[in-house]
Amino acid sequence: MSNRILVTGGAGFLGSHLCERLLSEGHEVICLDNFGSGQRDNIKELEKLSTFTVIDRDVRLTGSLPSVDRIYHLASRASPADFTDFPVNIALANTQGTQRLLDHSRACDARMVFASTSEVYGDPEVHPQPETYTGNVNIRGIRGCYDESKRFGETLTVAYQRKFDLDTRTVRIFNTYGPRMRPNDGRVIPTFVTQAVRGDDLTIYGDGEQTRSFCYVEDLIEGLVSLMRVEGPEYDVYNIGKENEHTIKELAQEVLNLTDTESGIVHEPLPEDDPSQRRPDISRAKAELNWEPEISLREGLNKTIEQFKRNMNSV
Ligand SMILES: NC(=O)c1ccc[n+]([C@@H]2O[C@H](COP(=O)([O-])OP(=O)(O)OC[C@H]3O[C@@H](n4cnc5c(N)ncnc54)[C@H](O)[C@@H]3O)[C@@H](O)[C@H]2O)c1
Repeated sequence: MSNRILVTGGAGFLGSHLCERLLSEGHEVICLDNFGSGQRDNIKELEKLSTFTVIDRDVRLTGSLPSVDRIYHLASRASPADFTDFPVNIALANTQGTQRLLDHSRACDARMVFASTSEVYGDPEVHPQPETYTGNVNIRGIRGCYDESKRFGETLTVAYQRKFDLDTRTVRIFNTYGPRMRPNDGRVIPTFVTQAVRGDDLTIYGDGEQTRSFCYVEDLIEGLVSLMRVEGPEYDVYNIGKENEHTIKELAQEVLNLTDTESGIVHEPLPEDDPSQRRPDISRAKAELNWEPEISLREGLNKTIEQFKRNMNSV
């Protein structure tokens, strides 16, 4: 069955891949985006389709929205590089923006998925992190605008669900990477790949022993779509991400190997509240959504490097 689907943040990295996937399945897609961190280029091919429309608007603002069957709320800057310059927009996109969409979901009886983040676990004291772990977040720190607003976005989503019996689901997305990330995004993979392709040294913050897990975008989108699709899920929040952990040092070495570059590695001091370890427990998603990631880090990095090289050559 084809649906009418609203994707907020649809011009961003994850949003544009999601819109593409939904359109390929025959759905009608409405993308709402203020083009803050999203780029028109990401959706230029989609704009040629009659089943795709764009609303150029901030998600915090009121204004009429079309009636839809499904809502994916992804609109929020997500890059740590933006936490200093856009703290208010980020905090409100995930709270006020989420409220607008919950109201809209109520008005048209639409199922909604709220894109939360592994950052709700802060600097975790439990490894790997299951959905039941309540987190360790510094609410006043530089990352608080993002971490805490996602936490409140989740609270609001649950409150609407309880009070109005809304069909809502929350996905806690762990580090995801792939083509269409902005080279200056500030997240580790686009930064390393850009540095390596340019022949610059790769910057590691701290000693590089901190670990992360990296999920390729195609796997992540499959997880999002599975969560939206499932009927009567047992839980209303799911971790989606890759279980394998890598140190930042290992990641840097892998990028150097795959780009065949002369670049080296330099170290800089760790930023405030940088978590030392982060890895999802995805047993819920495996059991309930029948989902798990399939693409290896090497395969995903190769696809990402290829697109970054193409883009940099075309500038
Ligand atoms: N990529 C990841 O690893 C990751 C991890 C955890 C959570 N997430 C979540 O997934 C979502 C998408 O992240 P992304 O990595 O694609 O980032 P992105 O910056 O590429 O995409 C965000 C999109 O939202 C739009 N946007 C931002 N604020 C807006 C506002 N106030 N009104 C309207 N549009 C607005 C941007 O223009 C952009 O198109 C975010 O909610 C983010 O928190 C992503």
